[in-house]
Amino acid sequence: MVKTIEWADGKVIMLDQSRLPIEVRYIECDNYLTVAEGIRNLWIRGAPAIGIAAAMGVALAAQDIEAETYEGFAEKLEPVFSAFLATRPTAVNIRWAVERLKVFLAKHREERVQRLRELLVQEANGILEEDIRINRAIGEWGAQFIRDGDTVLTHCNAGSLATGGYGTATAPMLVAREQGKKFEVVADETRPVLQGARLTAWELMQEGIPVTLITDNTAGALMKNGEIDLAIVGTDRTALNGDVANKIGTYTVAVLCKEHGIPFYVAAPLSSIDFSIASGDLIPIEERGAEEVTHIFGTCRIAPEGVKVRNLAFDVTPARYVSAIITEKGAFRPVDVRDLARPGADLEKLRIVGAMKGPLS
Ligand code: MRU
Repeated sequence: MVKTIEWADGKVIMLDQSRLPIEVRYIECDNYLTVAEGIRNLWIRGAPAIGIAAAMGVALAAQDIEAETYEGFAEKLEPVFSAFLATRPTAVNIRWAVERLKVFLAKHREERVQRLRELLVQEANGILEEDIRINRAIGEWGAQFIRDGDTVLTHCNAGSLATGGYGTATAPMLVAREQGKKFEVVADETRPVLQGARLTAWELMQEGIPVTLITDNTAGALMKNGEIDLAIVGTDRTALNGDVANKIGTYTVAVLCKEHGIPFYVAAPLSSIDFSIASGDLIPIEERGAEEVTHIFGTCRIAPEGVKVRNLAFDVTPARYVSAIITEKGAFRPVDVRDLARPGADLEKLRIVGAMKGPLS
């Protein structure tokens, strides 16, 4: 399993995903601004991974904060929280991590500042470890949807690289493989920055899972030929009504799946559900710089100078296209997402398939 990010020797070490697979390079961040820059520049990307990076970045900043009291310490962390919140707007994970750390700090307000610094490192590492456990559980619930002989389409990268480990969309594939199922994966290249070609194809090849790379506009033809059995993708944010935001082009895949009667699954840790947002229309969509579209790898120009560009990084897939949302607590119909937050919700009753028991159930 590829290691995306770790805390080592008082630094945050991240794999530079912007160079993969040409170059495997780790970046050592010794201050939080470099971590924030890494998130903005896609050295680290994928919703869970940027949440983990933000938590580690806050812990890193905390090591340099001098304060006499809890209040002074918390106050000096505020601009750090804001810096991470300003990096990428669509994934809910950064906000989730910031809110979690704030609640955590408040719970330990009686501790001395030196202890608070240590606790923040522990909590950030805890978020990383928890993410791996959650993804494994998503895999256990999701593997039931992959049958022997299937071909699974995926879009972008929701693999180990996008998370602490296992991935979300790739977790069902890893578990299905452990269960002895034989299947293949088709990876959309995912323009403009090619997470499918550069990251998913690379990652699955390292795992020994058969993968075929296609251009994004090939997916429809393969579906029409009967060559795709199901699609599994990740998500950056899921709204209360089950709408999901994910990498640009996901909506197109979902519509194509519906047209061809192919199940379209979204693998989503519960932390990526934004229970404060009624529908996907309210999810902020990041627009990135034109050079991601006009250039390959930032160096090779492929479009005329001065051309007008739109570069939406994400789109929203309405809930009606989603067959199931696979979480660490089971797979659910998108209409049932709102019930997942309800205290005492009967998850057993809401789960789509009861045939398999998940480890966190
Ligand atoms: O722009 P990116 O590479 O951060 O986009 C990533 C995705 O769209 C992933 O599918 C999503 O974050 C889910 S990762 C488990």
